[in-house]
Amino acid sequence: MDELARLREVVSSREKESEEKERQLERYASDLRETFMEERSRTQELRNSYVATVRALTNAVEVRDAYTGKHAERVTAYGLEIARYVEPPLAEDPQAEFGFLLHDIGKVAVPDGILHKREPLTDEERRIVEEHPVTGWRILEHIDYLSDAKKIIRFHHERWDGSGYPDGLKGEEIPLSARIFSIADSLDAITTDRPYRAAAPLLLARAEIVKCSGKQFDPTVVEAFRQIPDAALERIRRELE
Ligand SMILES: [Fe+2]
Repeated sequence: MDELARLREVVSSREKESEEKERQLERYASDLRETFMEERSRTQELRNSYVATVRALTNAVEVRDAYTGKHAERVTAYGLEIARYVEPPLAEDPQAEFGFLLHDIGKVAVPDGILHKREPLTDEERRIVEEHPVTGWRILEHIDYLSDAKKIIRFHHERWDGSGYPDGLKGEEIPLSARIFSIADSLDAITTDRPYRAAAPLLLARAEIVKCSGKQFDPTVVEAFRQIPDAALERIRRELE
């Protein structure tokens, strides 16, 4: 009998111990949940301030350029739409979005007289304009969180056949995001009013892009671009006029 009473005591003390451990674990779990939520809201805050900074920089370029209007926003939306058809994770990558938005940041160094000139540019003026990818890269050089975005800025005027600038990269040497971007940029340029010509319809822009496949543009990206329904591109143009 004594032995039984002793065993019961042992069992009851173990039960108490295990209940205490369970409560402790619950407290740990709740602390962890709280830390996780705090961390998540801090990450979100940080991301929001990144987005706000990138948008402020983008606006600094756009206010100078009369033609562009919402060019950066449109070209970003086109670029992300194309990315969804080429490499879906890229469409969710903030670096792609930041790079698309900031692609022409280097134009802050191009004088107004050249930026707004209606007549054809002289060779020297063209040389100055063509410095903008490297200028943009330099402006953002020390901003670590724009790591991949900087590649889009530097390489957005490279061409698939190697005839682009500033580095004359060829084919897959050009980062995929920059290859996607150059189609988005051309699409917007063709379908937007310019001082020297009216906007062309989407059909014509599509034909022009297909024509440049394998020369200016990556054929795989052009093929993906062809799969995008007109309605998706028209919606972007309408919403970001
Ligand atoms: Fe550019």
